[in-house]
Amino acid sequence: MSYAALRSIGAYVPKKILSNDDLAKMVDTSDEWISKRTGIKERRIAAKDETTSDMGVEAAKKAIERSGIEIEDIDMVICATISPDYFCMPSTATIIAKKLGLGNTTAFDISAACTGFVYILSIAKAFIESGMKKNILIIGSEKLSAITDYTDRGTCILFGDGAGAAMVSATQNIDEAIIDINTGSDGTYADLLMSPNGGTGSPHDSLDQEATSCFMQMKGNETFKVAVRTLTKDVVEILEKNNIESSAIKHFIPHQANYRIIKAVGDALKMTKEQVVVTVDKYGNTSGASIPMAINEIYENGSLKSGELLLLDAFGGGLTWGSALVPFSPLK
Ligand code: UT7
Repeated sequence: MSYAALRSIGAYVPKKILSNDDLAKMVDTSDEWISKRTGIKERRIAAKDETTSDMGVEAAKKAIERSGIEIEDIDMVICATISPDYFCMPSTATIIAKKLGLGNTTAFDISAACTGFVYILSIAKAFIESGMKKNILIIGSEKLSAITDYTDRGTCILFGDGAGAAMVSATQNIDEAIIDINTGSDGTYADLLMSPNGGTGSPHDSLDQEATSCFMQMKGNETFKVAVRTLTKDVVEILEKNNIESSAIKHFIPHQANYRIIKAVGDALKMTKEQVVVTVDKYGNTSGASIPMAINEIYENGSLKSGELLLLDAFGGGLTWGSALVPFSPLK
């Protein structure tokens, strides 16, 4: 039997920085409020002509180059995004595959909001363990600035743009293998986080509606409480199921939504400051890109070493959630 191993990581962030002070000129807010309530200091904003696939390609190039796997050996591309190049079709994954010169590779997107990266990791694992695919490129890429309402201070302070990518490939060595992934959803809470207009659930009735049709809406305070509860429960379950103590986790990588959520979950799990990876201060919430961007951060600053155990923990619109126990298993 083949197992699935996380071989490499890469990320890309756009150059433009949107600071809290910049936002305070746009809506009734302040650096002090945003810093205190979210831990966010700044976020990145893609250029007008820079697409979700463009960012995904840049992250993917790094992941491919670092993986030691030849580009022609990639047999699947999966992209997690809620801000695709085109809604419905074509998928952003097919565009990324084309821009990378990947020929006729299987490529598709999935929609699981901020849990997207954990979902695509689980799909990659399943395809590899079944023997159907060997080398799968997974990408979380978001241009959330394109679906953010910059007149709504309850959401526009949170979100940013960026991309992260990883190579997952087959191994016969169980020590390199992804240990477990747990994913779930509960549509009862669908209205906490939505882009309500434009789909068949809420079709356009006028052209005017079109311009703002995809903007995200969020019941922030309710979402916050469910996030803390769900993120904590999910991790407790995966650790118990696999008989692993939280002290054995080298890097705990929660979805980067709000520092207060990260702190509450980290404290509930008795994680030390050194274990918990935080990037929300620099990049805000980048939804499906947040977890791979955070893994890339510790890779590039030299603190992620071969064989170290990562615990991923995500939560997002749907509601969806997911956690994963993943040793970092580079080939080079
Ligand atoms: O990634 C997917 C999951 N998303 C999340 O996990 C996001 C979860 N939610 C949050 O991060 C927080 O709920 C927010 C940061 C969005 C809001 O923080 P909060 O502490 O929950 O604030 P709140 O919504 O309870 O509002 C408290 C007060 C209100 O004023 P009043 O009614 O007390 O006078 C708001 O109008 O803060 C006000 N407020 C703001 N003030 C200044 C809300 N947003 C802002 C703002 N600047 N940007």
